Amino acid sequence: MRFKLKTLYLLGVMPLLLSCKSNGSAVLPQQKMDYIVGQFERTLNETDDPTKIPRSISNNGDLVTSGIFGWTSGFFSGSLWYLYELSPDERWKEEAIRWTEILEPVQYVTNDHDIGFMINCSYGNGYRITKNETYRKILIQAATSLSQRYNPMVKSIKSWNRKKSWDGKTIWHYPVIIDNMMNLELLFEASKLSGDPAFRNIAVEHAMTTMKNHYRKDFSSYHMVNYDPKTGEVLNKATVQGFADESSWARGQAWGLYGFVVCYRYTGNKRFLEFAENIANYILNHPELPEDLVPYWDFDVKNTSLRPEWNYEPRMFKEIPRDASAAAITCSALLELGLYSEKYGKGYIIKADEIIRSLSSPTYMDSANNKYFILNHSVGSIPHGAEIDIPLVYADYYFLEALVRKNRMQQNGNSYKF
Ligand code: GLY
Repeated sequence: MRFKLKTLYLLGVMPLLLSCKSNGSAVLPQQKMDYIVGQFERTLNETDDPTKIPRSISNNGDLVTSGIFGWTSGFFSGSLWYLYELSPDERWKEEAIRWTEILEPVQYVTNDHDIGFMINCSYGNGYRITKNETYRKILIQAATSLSQRYNPMVKSIKSWNRKKSWDGKTIWHYPVIIDNMMNLELLFEASKLSGDPAFRNIAVEHAMTTMKNHYRKDFSSYHMVNYDPKTGEVLNKATVQGFADESSWARGQAWGLYGFVVCYRYTGNKRFLEFAENIANYILNHPELPEDLVPYWDFDVKNTSLRPEWNYEPRMFKEIPRDASAAAITCSALLELGLYSEKYGKGYIIKADEIIRSLSSPTYMDSANNKYFILNHSVGSIPHGAEIDIPLVYADYYFLEALVRKNRMQQNGNSYKF
């Protein structure tokens, strides 16, 4: 499939973060927007089949795709919706519709919690932009499916089904991971769209339980809490995609921050706002956060007092990998939190701007090595040897979301509504 570049910008190369009003994106210089558009064209030239959904690249630089039931399946169509908002060309809308609607069967998924990511990023953005009635029904059905994983004894949604732990040493009876905070937006939205408060009540209970059990005193989060489903008792806590059980996995901190900001958006409950501020301050004040605000894949990777359960060897990396996906998620969350936080809001927006500046630098917008994606240098799961220091579709998704948010904030100031 061939695309013609359609330039909608009148100003040519503009300095980063211009505060002028504009359609399209005034957040990035034209040249960088052209690069982003070019990456989507290249990807769509490579895969025209929406059942093969872009996810990452292989060691050889080939496009790695996922099926519709993979947890990342909603990010590519979601990115196309954001691209359409940044670069309002009807082609992007047509592609967004095509790559969204292939996910229609996902609304019935009940075997894990990722339906929130899959349906809300795709159909959720699609509904926000088009108000398509079918999309509304799919969002409500997806929330109904997700709600089946809620246990009132645990007061949480189960992330994964009961299974052996990844090291094979124990059983996870009712594992809840911090990532699950990201699925709550689907529930809040479904209550708004259906008038049924049940979804929202589940989301609030889940968030309250997460505040109680996932977080340490310093507002860093464990990755997983394993519950007894009969009593709701916490059996153990672990950090399976991070450096060690007691460490602070960077993307987990970002998921939690984003999730609590969303909880505040829908409830106005100050407990959620303060909690989000505390997480944001933990991240931004962390002594190991690099100057460019793109974190190492785990904040504790240099903490020699921690003992990784996996086969870690300090010399395994020439440099400690960063996680651009964690930075992009944090950036998008800070832009929203910046509007809500009376105490720290301005500082959060400044930090988000800095993250946009870092991620749009040639280090991360690494056109020589990115192939089909926008950002390089993300990490899937180092303990599992999977997706290390490569582009990942969800880093791009949250980066584009941050650009859309920033752009709309520039146009509407503080009256911007999420
Ligand atoms: N939700 C899976 C991950 O963040 O890797």
